[in-house]
Amino acid sequence: MAAPSVPPRIAIADASRHVGERVRIAGWLYNLRESGKIVFPLVRDGTGILQCVAMKNALPAEVFQTVRDLTQESSIVVSGKVRAEPRAPGGYELELDGIEVIQRVPESDPYPITPKEHGIEFLMDRRHLWLRSRRQHAILRIRHEVVRAVRDYFDSHGFTLVDTPIFTPSACEGTTTLFEVNYFDHDKVYLTQSGQLYNEATAMAFGKVYCFGPTFRAERSKTRRHLTEFWMVEPEMAYATLDDVKQVAEELVCYVVQRVLENRRPELAVLERDVSKLENVKPPFPQISYDEAVRRLQAKGSPIQWGTDFGGTDETLLSEDFDRPFMVDRFPAAIKAFYMQPDPERPEVVLGVDVLAPEGYGEIIGGGQRIHDLELLLRRIEEHKLPREAFEWYIDLRKYGTVPHGGFGMGIERCVAWICGLDHVRETIAFPRMLYRTRP
Ligand code: 4AD
Ligand code: MG
Repeated sequence: MAAPSVPPRIAIADASRHVGERVRIAGWLYNLRESGKIVFPLVRDGTGILQCVAMKNALPAEVFQTVRDLTQESSIVVSGKVRAEPRAPGGYELELDGIEVIQRVPESDPYPITPKEHGIEFLMDRRHLWLRSRRQHAILRIRHEVVRAVRDYFDSHGFTLVDTPIFTPSACEGTTTLFEVNYFDHDKVYLTQSGQLYNEATAMAFGKVYCFGPTFRAERSKTRRHLTEFWMVEPEMAYATLDDVKQVAEELVCYVVQRVLENRRPELAVLERDVSKLENVKPPFPQISYDEAVRRLQAKGSPIQWGTDFGGTDETLLSEDFDRPFMVDRFPAAIKAFYMQPDPERPEVVLGVDVLAPEGYGEIIGGGQRIHDLELLLRRIEEHKLPREAFEWYIDLRKYGTVPHGGFGMGIERCVAWICGLDHVRETIAFPRMLYRTRP
């Protein structure tokens, strides 16, 4: 018998377009089920998972034996005819007629992550492999959609992408969460906490800008919301007020959620996400002041006092009152960063806003209007005991054509955790960095 010709290679995601054709799929064995004289290898290729069917009496004995003996995560190239099969996961299957084993994972050292339950630390230690599982795959595909949607939103609304440095000479968000790096033998620099200060410079050059990159916080918090390295998208706008900032934040969040609903339904289904909660994410977002938030929290039994920041539990309590993201504004100046513009009518509070996700996910966005007055900025730098030399360039922005301006930062991992309905941010990034985890 002549060897069958080599059919064209397709991605599993495109199987529906090749029904009735003979194709090749290059991937890995996800799982194998056997039922009498038929084996059902599940093959994954990064774009999806496809059930194959190998029938003993339709295949040469050695081909059938090879398939039957496959081990989890062995790399394989299978060929066969695609057919619609409503009972198969995904609705299509491959009638297998050939297989090439690229590497067979030996029984003596089997793939460590099996379909049984594993503890979180076990999985985290094997994050480089865990990424192959269906759930992790779904989460990271949703993350990609979030990132794409964020870029599309800003790119189509007149913002210029101007990325900001990671080595920085100064603190943006308080000096207690800085990671210090020795910069050769002549300088001390820090890993950036936020690109905002540089955004303020580029906004004066380009009008509307955004930066999007990794940011770092030496936060000794071991919570479900904290990473030491996380990705933040930060828009900044010249001639903008707190209301302008709120409007962009609301539009962005709605757009991102909408895009995930449009393009990542199957992944949301893998995560068993209640999408009706996401379908609620429409404008207008409810808005309350910090004062009002404190009153609500006290009424719910929280020990919070005016003048202190919300704890994670407070954020969760507040979100009970809303069925969509909501905004809290006008925080006490004393608990916010040095650059926040005071409310002219009540200088003890600032024109800052946080957007909190519903369902207890907490703050996903922080931002507001910045101080544009030179004298006031100098006073704040002094009050916060910040080294003026490191801020000279930033102070310049208030000397040469200063204007009211503002922006915000949205944490990608917090946003993805909420959209996916996860109980921890650690699964929203491929290789999370946390207080007690820097590997793999
Ligand atoms: O509220 P934050 O600290 O604001 C800033 O950094 C501003 N300079 C941003 C700006 O106005 N351009 O951080 C913004 C967001 C938070 O709302 C949260 O989503 C995320 O960044 N974030 C974290 N995400 C994960 N782990 C952490 N440790 C985070 N800290 C902040
Ligand atoms: Mg904040």
